Amino acid sequence: MRLPPMPDRVTVVEVGPRDGLQNEGAPISTADKVRFVDLLSDAGLPVIEAAAFVSPKWVPQMADADEVVRGIARRTGVRYSALVPNTKGLGRALDAGVDEVAVFAAASETFSRRNVNQTIEESLASHAGVCRDARAAGVRVRGYISTCFGCPYEGPVPPSRVAEVAARLLDLGVFEVAVSDTIGIAHPRQVPEVLEAVVERVPAARVALHFHDTRGTALANVLAGLIVGVAVFDASAGGLGGCPFAPGAAGNLATEDLVYMLDGLGIETGVDLGAVAEASRFIESRLGRPLPSRYLQALGAAPQGTADLQVRCGERTSR
Ligand code: HMG
Ligand code: MG
Repeated sequence: MRLPPMPDRVTVVEVGPRDGLQNEGAPISTADKVRFVDLLSDAGLPVIEAAAFVSPKWVPQMADADEVVRGIARRTGVRYSALVPNTKGLGRALDAGVDEVAVFAAASETFSRRNVNQTIEESLASHAGVCRDARAAGVRVRGYISTCFGCPYEGPVPPSRVAEVAARLLDLGVFEVAVSDTIGIAHPRQVPEVLEAVVERVPAARVALHFHDTRGTALANVLAGLIVGVAVFDASAGGLGGCPFAPGAAGNLATEDLVYMLDGLGIETGVDLGAVAEASRFIESRLGRPLPSRYLQALGAAPQGTADLQVRCGERTSR
């Protein structure tokens, strides 16, 4: 028996330095953030969201986004991105030298208000300005949609609402729409339901999936996404993460856990699993607490000399 066909190659978008660290209460030094990004670059991640140029009053941990982006040792072939909420953030991001930016809208009104103090309509109007100025600067814009599988304030979110926001973002000129499970509530049956509505309005090749792993369903959701042909997935080293404005949201899907599964499925990513784990170990040592990645925990528990066993098992490629 075989699994259904899936993409041969997947792009892993590393969001640990942004989505991962934005929720950390204790300050992390700029030098440590830069080192974290550099280790992730060494691991072969093709896209790294390095920081957020949001209001430092709202997210103090991202206040040094400018210095972080300026401090990165740029690796050829890696796209360094940053989150921006408005043209002020875009200006800062462009000055710091990002390769691309990401705007973020929501599929539910209450989350939009809590996250950016704007209605969905107001946030889209703000993104229109970002997209216009970014285009003039020759910089691509990615568009996130939060609460696509459920809202912490409103509960269920209709897929048609997600599709509508996706279409609006596409009209503004985003190159990719990241359909996001902000609070890690999605289950695999929802994935094709939501995507079916989205791909009626947005070409499937321009859809990415962004899962948080609050309920342990993120990898199952990725598998559902792969089966319906999605080939871009966000993840965060070590499973860092959460959103300060989404109560109960836990970390993102861990990059190691994602890459381990993709390696096992024989899907190319270009990412070195051991090197991602090194980056996670580094930031874990700075945070002073164990990170939730299951792969990382298994690596720590492996008897001496056998730590690469799971890497080798993960390399089996029969599908
Ligand atoms: P506001 O308070 O409504 O509006 O914030 P404001 O324009 O009055 O701004 C307040 C102050 O911030 C002002 O300073 C602005 O100048 C300043 P003051 O005049 O009081 O001295 N300011 C800025 N400073 C630096 N950079 C900027 C910037 N913008 C304003 N870019 C605003 C509105 C949108 C700015 C605010 O609500 C905000 O920054 N929100 C960001 C929230 C956030 O970062 N959330 C987490 C990221 S989203 C996420 O995690 C979800 C995602 O992962 C996908 C998923 O999982 O769902 C992407
Ligand atoms: Mg997120």
